[in-house]
Amino acid sequence: MKPLLLAIAASAAVGSGLLSVQAHAQTSQAESQVNALEGLAGKHPGSRRSGAKGICASGHFVGNAAGRELSSAAVFSGERIPVVARFSVGGGSPKASDKSKSVRGLALQFQLPGGAQWQMANISAPVFFVSKPEQFAPFVQARTADPATGKPNPEKLKAFNDANPDTLRQAAYLAQAPVPASYATANYWGVNAFEFETAPGKGQFVRWQFVPEAGVMGLSEEQLKSMGDDFLAAELRDRVGKGAVAFDFRLQLADAADNLIDPTLAWPDSRKVVSAGKLVIDSVSPDSGGACDAMTFNPLVLPAGIKPSADPVLNARAAPYAISLGRRLGEVDRK
Ligand code: HEM
Repeated sequence: MKPLLLAIAASAAVGSGLLSVQAHAQTSQAESQVNALEGLAGKHPGSRRSGAKGICASGHFVGNAAGRELSSAAVFSGERIPVVARFSVGGGSPKASDKSKSVRGLALQFQLPGGAQWQMANISAPVFFVSKPEQFAPFVQARTADPATGKPNPEKLKAFNDANPDTLRQAAYLAQAPVPASYATANYWGVNAFEFETAPGKGQFVRWQFVPEAGVMGLSEEQLKSMGDDFLAAELRDRVGKGAVAFDFRLQLADAADNLIDPTLAWPDSRKVVSAGKLVIDSVSPDSGGACDAMTFNPLVLPAGIKPSADPVLNARAAPYAISLGRRLGEVDRK
């Protein structure tokens, strides 16, 4: 075939079939991720398939000059930016114990002037449990009870862990971290890398974290014994009823040597960290509903001045969040 004809044939193939095959493969991966979460935690109509137990809150964010030096995003203007928040307990069960050695979540939506939004969902661990999206469903399935025994199959779990040692880093972190005493005393990390930009081509890769002004506080083994499984929501309502809670928004700046695409690897503590603003939570929903209920927090909804890195886990998050949102909204009668 002549070069021109070849080019025409190739573009016709892309137009007719190849692209849709690719799009379909992606949908299947996201669906199998959400199905795996349902398999592990059971089906809970109306609930998120991950971070199922949680509470809506709201407040504002004020960015500062250090943030403006790194990004042109309007969130750092220094004006008060309204924020919708959701605090959660890791896992797909709305009945998860607040004493679980799992992550706590802090999801945020910043409402920027002109209608733009910034969404994110952060966790109380500096690393995630998979470095590639294709590990997600098999990771969850390996931890799912075998119907015959009521327990995960130990050989299957060992085989997965041996073949994927990178997926054990988050569990190692959580095993040595105390269970958070309050949603307001956990440190929340964004985990994935993003590029902050002041102008096209002037970028700096960062990872962010929200550091609680109240300090990081966990529960002792003694305290855990005397506490029930549901204390986090009431504790946050009480605490915010007495005065707003705040988090320092910090950016860890990547060095040229740092891995930008593997969320199971933390960057060295020696990296420069700057405080770029303050998050204030001054209202908590009085019940289990609220403004955050019908929302999803898709970390690819970014304002101008902040761009995603090439981290494949970050780039795979939008689809399963939308699928989970679609399933749970379809299950609830909102009339
Ligand atoms: C391929 C990787 C991932 C998959 C398949 C996945 C899947 C999901 C799904 C299905 C939901 C429920 C969404 C909804 O119904 O609105 C969710 C929520 C959540 N995810 Fe992920 N996730 C991934 C990566 C991450 C990472 C890297 C983080 C941490 C930085 C994270 C933190 C959270 C949090 C905190 C929530 C609860 C958000 C809320 O309160 O609405 N996830 N995830």
